[in-house]
Amino acid sequence: MTVNNAIEQDYSKQISLEHRKKFAQFFTPVAVAEMMVKWLLGNENLKTVLEPAFGLGIFSRALLSQKNDIQIKGFEVDNLIFEQAKNEFADTGKMNLLLQDYMYNDWQNKYDGIICNPPYFKFHDYDNKNILKEIETHLQCSLSGFTNLYTLFLLKSIHQLAPNGRCAYIIPSEFLNSDYGTLVKKHLLKTGTLRHIIVVGFEEKVFDDALTTACIVLCANDNKTDKVQFSNIQSMDELKKIEQLITEYPEISAISQVFAFSELNPEIKWKAYYQPQNGHKYKNLVPFSTYAKVVRGIATGANDYFTFSLSKAKEYAIDERYLLPCICHCVDVKEAFFTQSDFEHLKQSDKNVFLLNAINAKDERVTKYIQKGETEKIDKKYLTASRNPWYLLENRPPAPIWVSVFNRTGLRFIRNEANVSNLTTFHCIYPNQSQLFSKISIDLLFAYLLTDTARQIFEDNSREYGNGLQKFEPNDINKGKMLDLALLPEKSRNKVVDLYYQFKDLECDGKSRQVLDEIDNVLIKEFVQNSDTTVCHFVSPLPLAQMLQDIQTKATPVGVEKILINK
Ligand SMILES: C[S@@+](CC[C@H](N)C(=O)[O-])C[C@H]1O[C@@H](n2cnc3c(N)ncnc32)[C@H](O)[C@@H]1O
Repeated sequence: MTVNNAIEQDYSKQISLEHRKKFAQFFTPVAVAEMMVKWLLGNENLKTVLEPAFGLGIFSRALLSQKNDIQIKGFEVDNLIFEQAKNEFADTGKMNLLLQDYMYNDWQNKYDGIICNPPYFKFHDYDNKNILKEIETHLQCSLSGFTNLYTLFLLKSIHQLAPNGRCAYIIPSEFLNSDYGTLVKKHLLKTGTLRHIIVVGFEEKVFDDALTTACIVLCANDNKTDKVQFSNIQSMDELKKIEQLITEYPEISAISQVFAFSELNPEIKWKAYYQPQNGHKYKNLVPFSTYAKVVRGIATGANDYFTFSLSKAKEYAIDERYLLPCICHCVDVKEAFFTQSDFEHLKQSDKNVFLLNAINAKDERVTKYIQKGETEKIDKKYLTASRNPWYLLENRPPAPIWVSVFNRTGLRFIRNEANVSNLTTFHCIYPNQSQLFSKISIDLLFAYLLTDTARQIFEDNSREYGNGLQKFEPNDINKGKMLDLALLPEKSRNKVVDLYYQFKDLECDGKSRQVLDEIDNVLIKEFVQNSDTTVCHFVSPLPLAQMLQDIQTKATPVGVEKILINK
């Protein structure tokens, strides 16, 4: 029996994306399914298998092509795909397919093998209160209300493993590095069943349609080891190497590391166990919260209603007194400094740069606009319904520094010189007015934030999405590390600030990059563990000799990639 994804491909062509999204129907590529099946087959007594989120049964097809003497039970909630799956497997005589919700059924049964690509719903897209209760009652553990459904599938399946049973899950890697994941990781460690975590690196999207980075979690209920192996694969080709690794626990290899359960800390982001950490190069790191606090921007709960451009204000005759200047879209801010004239330019270009600020307004046009909101039930939305009055804006003074929430090329910090507010497209950064902050100026802080050094260190604390997209929640930055700038000797401090002023002047003519490199070099000299290091850019793959000569002569070629070189 040859196994391929033809059935899934036909299904995806015929069935609308809307339907597939509703049920989170993103299918497992055959190469991944086969690798996961190999893990299950490592249980020599594999007789009973469970597929908790059946879809079109790629795992069962891959399994049956290798082993015939098994019985498979599958759960599915979508009647449409269920009927098709039943037809596909009608002749095998091995299947027991049920049109039931896995989370509410089958708790009492145990299996030799469980294999799954569960639905990815965020906590607000499923009946999370009742499902959490179900899990907490059966597993006697407590979980966060923000927990994603896919991790709950995983925990239930681990609970359903028979002695020596094995389970293989492919899920987003987000839980490894997010706050709600801490309790999940704690529980995984408590069960002692975790064996492998294989993270599929940024470059490759495992699922064409889903914006997510995947990881494969392999567990065994066999008491054979107290170690977990973390692997980080950068391409589907590397899956083949993994197939060899998962048959046993080898020494650390180029793509993997092994840790004892006792070494794993559920409180930290587990990317520390599978990704090189940038912060390790530096000494004297402190949490960013030492110097500043990051909070998310203003959430209105109904942007279309609350945001205004000049023409919309004119249409509803709303006076500017009742409009709060506010940046609503990330793309409206292009440079590192956002000035009053940038704001004026956006305003005159009729961009949405205002928010309705109607508190205590006696103006009848404003009252009319509020009534319009009530007619359109804006007051009954999730966020507005919890405010009093419903059109009250969140209290966020304009932040002197912003940072972008989603990033492809590392964090982007902006100095808000226009002193305007911002929606959630940016997080707000408020420097601490504490004694400590008096030791470093906001210019020094911002100069640091512009450097690659700052970005690389923060990266250790990012969340990963598919296709190279990084997301930073406010707490990822608050808890992220930074160089302790108060320890910079005065001379270096002054030099950084001087360079920063040069950077500001040069920003428009493309030479600013070199100035940032110079700031980086000052910081590296003071903070890199081995400080005999220089920052270089490469125009092209220069021959090594020329590269070294450039370093000797201190020429700084401009190019695409930046690396650190020990001289
Ligand atoms: C991500 S797809 C995976 C399909 C297939 N196993 C694969 O790997 O290609 C998840 C499947 O689970 C189904 N599903 C969603 N919620 C479910 C639930 N609570 N119980 C059982 N199945 C569910 C969806 O309809 C979908 O077919």
